[in-house]
Amino acid sequence: MKYVLITGASSGIGKELAKQFAKKGHDLILVARREDLLKELKEELETEYHRSVLYYPCDIAKDPKAVYDFCRDNGLDVSVLVNNAGYGDYGPFTDGDIDKLLGMIDLNDKALVALTYHFLKDMKEKGSGHIINTGSVASFIPGPYMAVYYATKAFVLSFSLALREELKDTGIHVSVLCPAPTKSPFWEVAGGETTAVYNNIFARTAKNAAKTGYDLYDSKKAYAIDGPAYKLIIGIARHLPLELCARTIGYLQSKTKKSR
Ligand SMILES: NC(=O)c1ccc[n+]([C@@H]2O[C@H](COP(=O)([O-])OP(=O)(O)OC[C@H]3O[C@@H](n4cnc5c(N)ncnc54)[C@H](OP(=O)(O)O)[C@@H]3O)[C@@H](O)[C@H]2O)c1
Repeated sequence: MKYVLITGASSGIGKELAKQFAKKGHDLILVARREDLLKELKEELETEYHRSVLYYPCDIAKDPKAVYDFCRDNGLDVSVLVNNAGYGDYGPFTDGDIDKLLGMIDLNDKALVALTYHFLKDMKEKGSGHIINTGSVASFIPGPYMAVYYATKAFVLSFSLALREELKDTGIHVSVLCPAPTKSPFWEVAGGETTAVYNNIFARTAKNAAKTGYDLYDSKKAYAIDGPAYKLIIGIARHLPLELCARTIGYLQSKTKKSR
């Protein structure tokens, strides 16, 4: 039996990705820290879509290899790995909590690299597999007031596309889902619910982002930006000087609902 393993499946985009994959007939392994939410989702998906759904509660920022060991020890064949877990932190860099900032790198980048590394070895032996990493529209531009977060997402895009090229003749695909600002608990965790970047009419739903993510599985494309408005914005931004992009994002992210 082949499984799609999704990290960050207890909430937001990861939860919706789990629904998309289950709906299309895939069996799942759900990973996040909150066991109660994973169990609830497992029951929902099994009832609604009649798929086999397993879950593994784990802090992957602390011990990503535990996820791989769980799958190997139980003989679970992971054919699709979705590295989706991540968080952000909003505010001036020097006002941030250094442990939260460094923990973000542990989760958004180090855990993603570690999981990719371990599961890829098995995929290479089988000569097939797909790794879908959740980047962001933040992957393309610097982001003042969320400087570390944007940098972690630039890492995801760069790492994933380089790896995709290395693996081009192996039967293994690597893709990057780039969500736009999306309504999910992400912004509450980041403390950025009031920013103009999030509070605008173009904000997407987690279901929108997950559909774009599932389409990547189907198309095997390198990356996809969720939402036509953000495809256009990023398309334009990529032709502008990076300093100008940084200034614009800095302006938007310093502009809050309260100050408007
Ligand atoms: N929302 C947006 O505007 C947006 C835009 C672009 C990109 N993204 C990216 O999309 C991804 C999903 O975000 P979201 O919007 O769905 O946010 P979310 O609702 O806050 O979901 C984050 C997920 O990550 C899990 N997680 C957090 N820390 C973890 C850890 N140490 N170990 C294991 N799992 C952990 C959380 O579960 P537990 O708390 O149960 O562990 C949760 O399931 C992230 O990579 C985010 O950077 C989001």
